[in-house]
Amino acid sequence: MIIVLIGYMASGKSTIGKKLADKLNYGFIDLDHFIESKENLSVREIFKTKGEIYFRKQEALNLTSILQSNDKIVLSLGGGTPCFGNNMEHILNTQNVKSIYLKNSISSLVKKLYKKKTKRPLISHIETKEAMTEFVAKHLFERVQFYNQSEIHIDTDGKSKKKIVEEVILKLF
Ligand code: S3P
Repeated sequence: MIIVLIGYMASGKSTIGKKLADKLNYGFIDLDHFIESKENLSVREIFKTKGEIYFRKQEALNLTSILQSNDKIVLSLGGGTPCFGNNMEHILNTQNVKSIYLKNSISSLVKKLYKKKTKRPLISHIETKEAMTEFVAKHLFERVQFYNQSEIHIDTDGKSKKKIVEEVILKLF
């Protein structure tokens, strides 16, 4: 089975994904890191030198190839992955794939994103917390229609990582 973690930037996809994979004894792939190691460039550098369209193409191609695997994998997507091309459709229509949406409130996302904005090209230019809140609210509003298609939804606000992992496992099996 491939367990796909979906959610906005800073929703905990990579951290929870790693912990979940350890607990289940599954392999772990972070799609951003997978692309970074293939390209030998960070996501920020790919956006800067090759552009977002190139990144989205690589994202879709690598997602498709990983979804073909028969291995037991936890796959953490980038925040935008389900929202481009037919990536979400593809995730939902591939057998043996379970999609999980890690749902955070806007205020908890902004709190985390504001501290770690430099490596994220879509938000690195935003200067104040107020502007970040406005951006995230609008952006999430556009994206939530894709995230909401996930088979399993987990509210993560105020929960420890351990509790989130337990909840995911409980809903999966
Ligand atoms: C993006 C999210 C990032 C990364 C890229 C674009 C997005 O991943 O894929 O910067 O469109 O939301 P994280 O969700 O891991 O930050």
